[in-house]
Amino acid sequence: METQRLQWHGKGSRVSIEEATTPIARVRDALNTDMVGQQVRVQGWVRTKRTSKAGVTFLEVNDGSGLRNLQIVVPESMPDYAAVVDAATTGASISASGMIIQSPAEGQETELRAESVEIVGSSPEYPLAKKRHSFEYLRTMAHLRPRTNTFGAVARVRNQVSWSIHRYFHEQGFLYVQTPIITGSDAEGAGQMFQVTSMDLKHLPVSEGLVDFSEDLFGRPTYLTVSGQLEAEIMATAMSSVYTFGPTFRAENSNTSRHLAEFWMVEPEVAFCDLDGLADLAEDFLKRIFSDVLNESAEDMAFFNQRIQPGIVESLERIANSDFVRLTYTEAIEVLQRSGRDFEFPVYWGADLQAEHERYLTEIQFDAPVILTDYPAEIKAFYMRLNPDGKTVAAMDVLVPGVGEIIGGSQREERYDVLLRRMKESGLDPEHYWWYLDLRRFGSVPHAGFGLGLERVVHFITGMQNIRDVIPFPRTPKNVEF
Ligand code: 4AD
Ligand code: MG
Repeated sequence: METQRLQWHGKGSRVSIEEATTPIARVRDALNTDMVGQQVRVQGWVRTKRTSKAGVTFLEVNDGSGLRNLQIVVPESMPDYAAVVDAATTGASISASGMIIQSPAEGQETELRAESVEIVGSSPEYPLAKKRHSFEYLRTMAHLRPRTNTFGAVARVRNQVSWSIHRYFHEQGFLYVQTPIITGSDAEGAGQMFQVTSMDLKHLPVSEGLVDFSEDLFGRPTYLTVSGQLEAEIMATAMSSVYTFGPTFRAENSNTSRHLAEFWMVEPEVAFCDLDGLADLAEDFLKRIFSDVLNESAEDMAFFNQRIQPGIVESLERIANSDFVRLTYTEAIEVLQRSGRDFEFPVYWGADLQAEHERYLTEIQFDAPVILTDYPAEIKAFYMRLNPDGKTVAAMDVLVPGVGEIIGGSQREERYDVLLRRMKESGLDPEHYWWYLDLRRFGSVPHAGFGLGLERVVHFITGMQNIRDVIPFPRTPKNVEF
C-alpha cells in the first residue's frame, strides 16, 4: 500500500515530506503498522458529522483509499471550532492534522485526534443525504456516486482487476500492444458499429445519391472498434504472445443488465496455439484474477459478500481452486434438451444460446464456470477455425454463474482458402481484409485468442446486479449524460 501521497502546489513544486498526506486506509490500519501516536495529515470528504453533548464533534471522513471511514475527533478547544464544525457538513472536503490514537470507542480501532481542521470546499445541501439510495437513482448522480461505499468498493475492485490482468500477462511473457480505436473494418463481422466521421452531418457531400466519403478526413467510412482482435493477430504473428486492453464499442440496442455500448476488453492473442491451449490459458487467467482480488481486495470483497451478494467470497474461492467444466456446444444442447425445462427460447442444434440457457448450465447443471467449445459455424464470426466436421468452429465461450458469458474466443482460421471462403459466405468483402488474408500467405501459423469483458468480470466478482454499476460512466441506449 502506498505510504504517503504528496500534494502538488500550483507552481509545480512538491511540498516537503512533513506536509505529506497519509491515506485514510493507512490510518485505519495503524495498530498493525505501529503508527499509533504519529502526527499525520489526512484529506478527504465528510460522510457524516455528529456532535456530542460534551462538546466534541466526530467527523466520519473518507478519501477513497479504503472502505472504512476515519473518525476524526474535533475537540471544542480547537481554534475556529464553531466555524469549522458548522461548515463540515456531508460532502465537504477537509484537510485535518492531528495524532493517530487507539480508539476508546467501539466501531473502529483507531481515530484521529484533530489539532487543526481546514474546510477546503464547503458543501451545503449535499444532494445525497445519508439514507440509502437505489442504484438506479445513483446512476443519475454519477458525479457523486463514487463517494458512496458501494461505488468506492467497485472502483477499487475494478482497479485491482485491471492491475491483475496486466500483471498476469506480464508474468507470462506476453507483450502489451495497443490496437486502434478508429478502424475501417468490422472485426466481428456483425455490423454493430458506431460510425466516425469528420464531415459535417448537416451538410454531407453527396455524389450520385451517396455520401461522398472522399471528403472525410480518412477518405473512407470509419468506425469505433468492436474489438482489437484483427490487429492483435497482426502483432501475434510477429511477436508470438500479445495482449491488447482497451475500450470497445457496440452500437447494439441492448437494454439488459449485461450489455454496455462502451466497455473495456482485454484480448490476448497467441501464435502456435490451438483451442485447448487457449482454454487452459483462459482458465488459469481467470483463476488468477479471482485469487488476486480475494487476497488484495479482502475488505471490499467482504463488503460485497455482506451487502451485495451473500456467498460470493466463498464461491470465488471455490472457483479459484477447482477445475472449470469443459464441454462442446453439441453436448450442451443435449444437456439442455434433457433438462425438461421450459425455456423461453427453444433449444435446438444451431440455436444461439440465450442467457437462460447459459445460466442453466452454470448455475443448475454444473454449479461452476463452464467452457463451451465447438459452436455451429453459422452463429459465430468468420475468422473462427472450421473444424474437420465442416459445420462447427473451434470457438470457445467461458460462462459463469449469474452473469453468463464473460469470455469469447477461438482458434483462428489460418488456412488461406478456407478463410477466403468463410469471408465470402459471411458477406464480407475479401478485398477489404487483404492484410488479414496476407497473414495467411506469409508464414501462417495456428493461433488463438479470446476477449474478456472487464465489466463482465467485475460484475461477476462483485455480485452487483447490473453491469451499469461496475463502470463509472456507463454508456447505454439513450444514456450518455456524464
Ligand atoms: O464474444 P465477443 O464479441 O468476442 C470478440 O469480440 C472477440 N473478437 C474477442 C477475441 O477473440 N479477441 O466479446 C468478448 C467479450 C464477451 O465475452 C463479453 O465478456 C464482452 O466481451 N462483451 C461485452 N461486455 C459488455 N457489454 C457488451 N455489449 C459486450 N459485448 C461483449
Ligand atoms: Mg461472444
